[in-house]
Amino acid sequence: MFKHLQAVPGDPLLALIVAHQQDPNPKKVDLGVGVYKDDEGRCPILESVKKAEQIMVDNEVTKAYLGVYGAAEFAPIIQELLLGKDNAIIKEGRIQSTQTPGGTGALKVAADFISANLPDARLWVSDPTWGNHESIFRSADVEVCHYPYYDAVTNGVRFDEMMAKLEAETKAGDVLLLHACCHNPTGVDLSFEQWQVITDFVNQRGLLPLIDAAYQGFGDGLEEDMAGLRYMAERTPSMLIANSFSKNFGIYRDRCGGLSVIAETATEAKNAFSIIGQAIRANYSMPPAHGATVVHTIWTNPELHSLWEAEVTQMRNRINGLRNQLVEKLAATGVSKDFSFIAKQRGMFSYSGLTLEQVRTLRSDYSIYIADTGRMSVAGVSDHNIDYLCDAIAKVVG
Ligand code: LMR
Repeated sequence: MFKHLQAVPGDPLLALIVAHQQDPNPKKVDLGVGVYKDDEGRCPILESVKKAEQIMVDNEVTKAYLGVYGAAEFAPIIQELLLGKDNAIIKEGRIQSTQTPGGTGALKVAADFISANLPDARLWVSDPTWGNHESIFRSADVEVCHYPYYDAVTNGVRFDEMMAKLEAETKAGDVLLLHACCHNPTGVDLSFEQWQVITDFVNQRGLLPLIDAAYQGFGDGLEEDMAGLRYMAERTPSMLIANSFSKNFGIYRDRCGGLSVIAETATEAKNAFSIIGQAIRANYSMPPAHGATVVHTIWTNPELHSLWEAEVTQMRNRINGLRNQLVEKLAATGVSKDFSFIAKQRGMFSYSGLTLEQVRTLRSDYSIYIADTGRMSVAGVSDHNIDYLCDAIAKVVG
């Protein structure tokens, strides 16, 4: 039955986790997959999460099925986090949200929903984008197109080229995927003014924005990071938002995310949401409960909520501090390349500009694990490895 099948390579990013784990070099450095790490190189469980889990152990009374959307009381948390407490879209019932297995689960449901209900829609993604975006939408038979985004010369956004491409080639009903903040993989975000321009264009062309909000809190703040998304949501008739709790609650393996649909009217939103429910049932039936219960427990307990906000701030400040240190220490090595752009990038990642050859040399000769694209997970840098890392980069770059 399976004789004709050829093995395929695994996901290159996830393969880095295994390669790093198996590397015996005590100096090894993992800057691959996007998980937050503390100065000891551990991906810690947040104190707010630990405390919430203790409360859950003491109070949980059942593990009965929840239904396709997960816990009903979780949806308002998704909406408040994304749009802000008193947003009119929430009050008018124009947004419906479901718990999903991580942000990836949300994107997969969105892809199935688009494929089945908007069959002519093409998905427009930034060049580059998170590698899994393309796989998820292709697996749902949605055509994926690219718009220019990252400018390797200025380390900024090729905004004029981006808009020119969208102007020339998108058609009404196409889906435009934007990263809410902390663009993965580049760390280069759209400015608020650029969100305003894109909002006008989306409305004029009749596009459906799909916003991937996986790193809320890691850029400039939990509220600040949603400024562009909120501006657009308040001015466009329809929107899909896939969000993740993996990073800002540090509950990666618990797989907790959300998919929200915003529509012109409450009835339209409910109708679309019922179809999303069907897509979920046919996909994974219903999401796992644990992560969402953790988030809910924290969200509804004032003491844990403040502790969690402080922990998000601390993670963000640590990463931004590391960015500045990287810039200073790289410059101090006398390396020929100007790395000052790293301090301006935001979120977990930095598109370092290292070539594939340089990345491979760092891996083979120094046990430093960076994605093939040159994307570094800045959170993997620490006081213990920063000098070793900067010296190694200086050696391979020259
Ligand atoms: C990443 O880009 O490193 C994360 O989003 C983890 C993943 O699933 O790829």
